[in-house]
Amino acid sequence: MTDPSSWEQILDYANRANPYPFYEDLRKTPVTRLPDGSYLVSTYAEIAALLHDPRVSSDISRNPAAAAAGVGGNEGDDGEDVGLRATFLSMDPPDHDKFRRITMRHFGPPTTPERVAGMEARMAEIVAGLVDDMAGHRRIDVVDGLAYPLPVTVICELLGVPPGDEQRFRVWVDVALQSTDPGLDPETQQKKRIEAGKELRAFMEELVETHRQAPGNDLLSALVTDDGPEGRLPNEQLVSTGLLLLIAGHETTVNLIANGALTLLRHPAELQRLRNDPDFAIPMVEELLRFEPPVHFVPFRTALDDIHIAGTTIPAGASLTLVLAAGNRDPAHVTDPHLFIPDRPNNQHLGFGGGVHLCFGAPLARLEAQIALTEFARRLENPRLVADPPPYRPSPFLRGPSHLWVDIDGIAHGQDEPAERL
Ligand code: HEM
Repeated sequence: MTDPSSWEQILDYANRANPYPFYEDLRKTPVTRLPDGSYLVSTYAEIAALLHDPRVSSDISRNPAAAAAGVGGNEGDDGEDVGLRATFLSMDPPDHDKFRRITMRHFGPPTTPERVAGMEARMAEIVAGLVDDMAGHRRIDVVDGLAYPLPVTVICELLGVPPGDEQRFRVWVDVALQSTDPGLDPETQQKKRIEAGKELRAFMEELVETHRQAPGNDLLSALVTDDGPEGRLPNEQLVSTGLLLLIAGHETTVNLIANGALTLLRHPAELQRLRNDPDFAIPMVEELLRFEPPVHFVPFRTALDDIHIAGTTIPAGASLTLVLAAGNRDPAHVTDPHLFIPDRPNNQHLGFGGGVHLCFGAPLARLEAQIALTEFARRLENPRLVADPPPYRPSPFLRGPSHLWVDIDGIAHGQDEPAERL
């Protein structure tokens, strides 16, 4: 039987570096009822089933736990939270499917296959530049030096956000995400979220307008000007979707790259293998998404009907949290779940969620992590962790190091450079 306080332990910042023993405890009861009447689902098969179950809603305005936490709701277009509530992330079909399709038309195959693939060379260039900048230093921070600047630069270029604007939105995004820290009292959380949400919305409204006036080749321009077969996103959706892509596009990938560097440093044989064989990046990143996923759980799903699952009935109207990170280490799904084994035959994981809300940006995130971690392995000479575990960011659900200090002996020269940099 699961001890419900395991969940409190997972939320407790003191356990951020290693929540996995508590996830193990959660899995003893695949579906656990918490004292507030909400449910946690922690085993692979049950999470996968519910991710594909049309009786489980993502509409946050229906969710009692979200209402209690002051998140989401139907307040209208006044920027009440980070602007994510009104996007397809928190909608159900058919609206979800329609808005996702309209957005995807300009992001990926079949209509725009070159948007992500066409950035590969640019990503390699950005990563090479970031690693070049580490030359001359004996101690580097992988988060500030690589894991954060790569995805933020990529998503800004892809969307068409001017380079200097990152300084402006970083603060608001930090506040908006810190306000999900369960350590804060709900009133402070909500106040901070509203303030940050208003700033972010005003910022994106301005961008939407400037792209409408003078469109370029970027994603935002395509979204604000092009009418596909299903029409254009309504204005309020353009703003919300722009923010969703901007935030989801980097706040998760930063953790994948930082968790990846940390995991490789803890597994020197795998680091060496990546150094010798860049193709190893593909299975390695997939295993990373299972072993140290950047998104630990999906909160605020609502049962639309009584759902009988794993011997429990989740009553209609109840709030559910799908604990992806616990499902990823379910021994009923993978053997030796606590071992990092990039060659494992079954690396089907929940790192990108599943069902209709399966991560929209997965191809972009994969490519960024593969390129960043390959360059990390290839060019950093004799990297050593300064602190293990490193300090963590506050969020229990977007989990990753806030800093990752690494001592190095030097930086090997880049692909096109003739000489050592140090
Ligand atoms: C390693 C990096 C990433 C991870 C681990 C990740 C994870 C996830 C997960 C777990 C979901 C499902 C949420 C749910 O079911 O409610 C999701 C959805 C989503 N992700 Fe990602 N994500 C990553 C990168 C990105 C990037 C780079 C973008 C944008 C370019 C992005 C955009 C989205 C969007 C728009 C959704 C909503 C999809 C929908 O509701 O249909 N993500 N992501």
